Amino acid sequence: MRADGGPVLPPGPRGGRLRNCYRRLSGYAEFMEQLHAEYGDIVFFELPRLKCCAVFDAGLAQEVLVAQAPFFAPWAPGGREPNKLMEHGCLPVHHGEEHRWRRELMETAFAEDRLRAYAEVIGEHALKLRARLQPGRVIDLRPEVERYTWDALARVVLGRDVDGRHGLHIGRLLKAADLLDLLPFGQLIKKLGPRPPTAVLDEAIYGAIRRAADPAHDGRDLVSHLVRAADEGLSRWSYANDRALRDEVIAFLCAFTDAPTATLCFAVHHLGCNPAARERVEQEVADVLGGRPAAPGDLDRLPYVHAVFKETLRLEPPAYVMRAKEALEDRVVGGYRIPGGTLMLVGMRVLHQRSDYWERAGEFRPERWLEDSRSGGAACPEHAYIPFGSGPHSCSGSDLATMLFVLALATIAQRLRLEPTSSRPPQRENIGVGVDRLRAAVQSLPCRER
Ligand code: HEM
Repeated sequence: MRADGGPVLPPGPRGGRLRNCYRRLSGYAEFMEQLHAEYGDIVFFELPRLKCCAVFDAGLAQEVLVAQAPFFAPWAPGGREPNKLMEHGCLPVHHGEEHRWRRELMETAFAEDRLRAYAEVIGEHALKLRARLQPGRVIDLRPEVERYTWDALARVVLGRDVDGRHGLHIGRLLKAADLLDLLPFGQLIKKLGPRPPTAVLDEAIYGAIRRAADPAHDGRDLVSHLVRAADEGLSRWSYANDRALRDEVIAFLCAFTDAPTATLCFAVHHLGCNPAARERVEQEVADVLGGRPAAPGDLDRLPYVHAVFKETLRLEPPAYVMRAKEALEDRVVGGYRIPGGTLMLVGMRVLHQRSDYWERAGEFRPERWLEDSRSGGAACPEHAYIPFGSGPHSCSGSDLATMLFVLALATIAQRLRLEPTSSRPPQRENIGVGVDRLRAAVQSLPCRER
């Protein structure tokens, strides 16, 4: 409490902006863990030009992401002026009314019948991924999974194949731009830098938008839905023009391939270190699928594979720390003063591994997700597990992400075993949520008894 009785700033290192910036850039996860260990559940610190507040407590995460969500907007460095790649912005950067409309429309794209059609497409790509993994070889799994994720998402979103190199390159530029935002001259570098090369993707996206207007087109792809939903009475809002829709789609395709890729790579690593869990996956898949390919209807029949997904996301959430939310005015969080302009950071990885929230927190134990039949999940406080975020900005693609994971792992485990060549976990790329590599030997699985 201040002398005048008002709330004070949360504890944290005072000053040391450049040192904090160095620690943030050289190891985000370690930096957050150290802040939590030294200062507790809510920590105020500064970077050059930026005030930040990290929270590591389930109740505080709920306060920032849900209860006080209208006062914390996605951080838009350099202001909300149009940027070179996305003039009209995209779902993750909008706030308030504009965000709500976009979000409502996007949610209609994930109705049950549509999800089923997406699952069929994803299942086909899971078979293609398995066909590329040749028994007897040692491979780097990461590029194979990345290709699978991109190809499946491109088909779901655009209804056609697009060479992944272009989109993955733009994805890397987006991540590099996020890092530049933290550097003193980052905005200037971004302004002076070249326009990202989007010609190939633009052609594919505008082609999909044109095709969506053709009544003869089946309309199973996501772009067709976004174009047609208002006319079909499914949404009260539609994009102002093709460019605005193109901006949404480019973000949807390019910004979200890393997370599913990293999750599958980490799962293969953890299953390699836990042979009993891997056996259980293989047995469940043999029992449910036998020799036939996985179909959309199987998604609900593979509880252990789902549990592996959840447990991997607990130990290795692709976003260590949730995308920064900026306080639009002075606020009070957890009894502390948060000055307007402060960037709120929810330390997801710390939350997911707190020993007071989780039994045997550091262990990979998919079983924990099958133990609490009341909640259909592990016993942990509300908001202690938020791999897909929470509140108005929670992940729009969580169903897609789940299908990408479950169908790929089940399809692989039906015929193959991936044996990592080292017990060292995949390393995170320093510019984002991606992982660098995962070397694994591909082995044929003997036929199992059903
Ligand atoms: C394992 C995979 C994934 C994880 C763990 C994940 C996680 C997240 C998280 C934590 C957020 C919220 C960030 C915040 O509060 O600002 C988010 C937002 C979002 N995600 Fe995902 N995501 C995954 C895959 C995907 C996929 C495959 C797509 C779509 C292709 C997608 C689309 C989105 C979108 C559009 C948002 C922004 C929603 C909004 O602001 O309203 N995500 N994701």
